[in-house]
Amino acid sequence: MKSKNRYLVTQPDLNAHGTLHGGILMKWVDEACGMEARIITGGVCATRHIGDISFWSTARLGDILEVEVKYLYHGKTSLTFSADVSNVTQGDAVAAFEKVTFVAVDKNHKPRDHRNESSSFKPVYPDRCS
Ligand SMILES: CC(C)(COP(=O)(O)OP(=O)(O)OC[C@H]1O[C@@H](n2cnc3c(N)ncnc32)[C@H](O)[C@@H]1OP(=O)(O)O)[C@@H](O)C(=O)NCCC(=O)NCCS
Repeated sequence: MKSKNRYLVTQPDLNAHGTLHGGILMKWVDEACGMEARIITGGVCATRHIGDISFWSTARLGDILEVEVKYLYHGKTSLTFSADVSNVTQGDAVAAFEKVTFVAVDKNHKPRDHRNESSSFKPVYPDRCS
């Protein structure tokens, strides 16, 4: 399963050098993966781990960035995604997030088994699922 979200780089997204702040990009990727996690599990999910991030190029005011999220695999309570960020305006690859893991949580913010709700969504690596 794949999804794409686009974000416009505006003034509040810039760092002191006038280019896109890396923390803002991380927020957009977290948000894009979090939306997928919520759709797949049908409930609230919390970011548990973000790992192996590469930043290849920067973005500037007015650029349009596309965050492509792939649903890689899941466990009992967790779901893991990757995200590739590209600059639609400049045609550059901007960043890659190899591993973004969310955990489905119940109303007490405890991990919950999401596998009933998520069973109709197909991950890229079903053999890695438990
Ligand atoms: C999310 C949270 C409720 C999970 O509770 P927890 O007690 O840490 O959860 P557990 O250790 O039981 O692990 C839950 C799942 O996460 C997985 N997990 C734990 N650490 C992990 C890591 N470093 N990388 C990937 N997966 C991990 C476990 O394997 C388990 O998955 P599974 O059930 O699919 O096998 C808790 O860690 C938390 O509240 N973290 C802060 C969340 C947050 O504020 N995020 C930022 C803002 S949204």
